[in-house]
Amino acid sequence: MIEIAGKNALITGSSRGIGQQIALGLAKLGCNIIVHGRTKQSCTSTLDLLKKYNIATYHVYGELSEKDSVEDIINQVKSLDIDIDILYNNAAIMKDFHEDYWSHSWDEWINTYKVNVIAMYTLCGAFIPSMIERGFGRVINITSRIMHKPELAPYGASKWAVDKLSDDIASKLIDTGVRINYLDPGWIRTDLGGENAEHPVEGVLPGILAPALVDNDGPNGEFFSAIDHNLKL
Ligand SMILES: NC(=O)c1ccc[n+]([C@@H]2O[C@H](COP(=O)([O-])OP(=O)(O)OC[C@H]3O[C@@H](n4cnc5c(N)ncnc54)[C@H](OP(=O)(O)O)[C@@H]3O)[C@@H](O)[C@H]2O)c1
Repeated sequence: MIEIAGKNALITGSSRGIGQQIALGLAKLGCNIIVHGRTKQSCTSTLDLLKKYNIATYHVYGELSEKDSVEDIINQVKSLDIDIDILYNNAAIMKDFHEDYWSHSWDEWINTYKVNVIAMYTLCGAFIPSMIERGFGRVINITSRIMHKPELAPYGASKWAVDKLSDDIASKLIDTGVRINYLDPGWIRTDLGGENAEHPVEGVLPGILAPALVDNDGPNGEFFSAIDHNLKL
């Protein structure tokens, strides 16, 4: 397990829900945090919660559904003039549950893939090359083990694409100090998970931090579970 005190972590969708827990968990280990939400305003509650930690905090904001706004987010991060050591691709969207699972529209498919897959790919491309140059980086992409739910087909398929994308990128990182892995948080009570979900949002800690703490020669291109883990902090 590595030390991450003083490292810088960008966590997409850390204004609430699971991303907020990731921010708090990493901050507790002394990691500096770049909070991201869709708006400046939405970042404020996480920034307030982070005040009790002796770390640097930043925020960037914008939609992950459009090329221009993703590029704008990347520019906001680059203008902070700090190295990104940990990229936690957490933000995602899940559209409506369709009882008639043949009724998902093209727009729903496309919008889901834009946020859940293409923005993730773009953020990886913006930050992984400089991690390779510096010889250190941890990238974690949030997936889901949602199964047999064609009623949520665009979301489910986009999450299998996350696994595939992460695994493909991992094959290029073998001899570098950069590790990329993907993690399922479990069924969690958040705006996305809903009120009937199995676990409270705090239940993702500490397991959700495990892929950020792997050694330089540790797992790469592997699946992690936030609930089913053996991390001891
Ligand atoms: N909850 C579960 O049961 C569950 C299960 C498996 C996997 N997951 C995965 O875990 C991750 C986090 O889920 P969650 O339950 O914490 O979700 P959530 O409560 O809905 O939070 C979503 C976060 O993503 C941001 N976001 C949403 N749409 C965005 C967009 N179009 N562009 C940019 N940012 C956007 C939100 O920002 P604003 O606050 O500004 O809106 C918020 O910070 C997702 O990848 C999800 O698929 C969740």
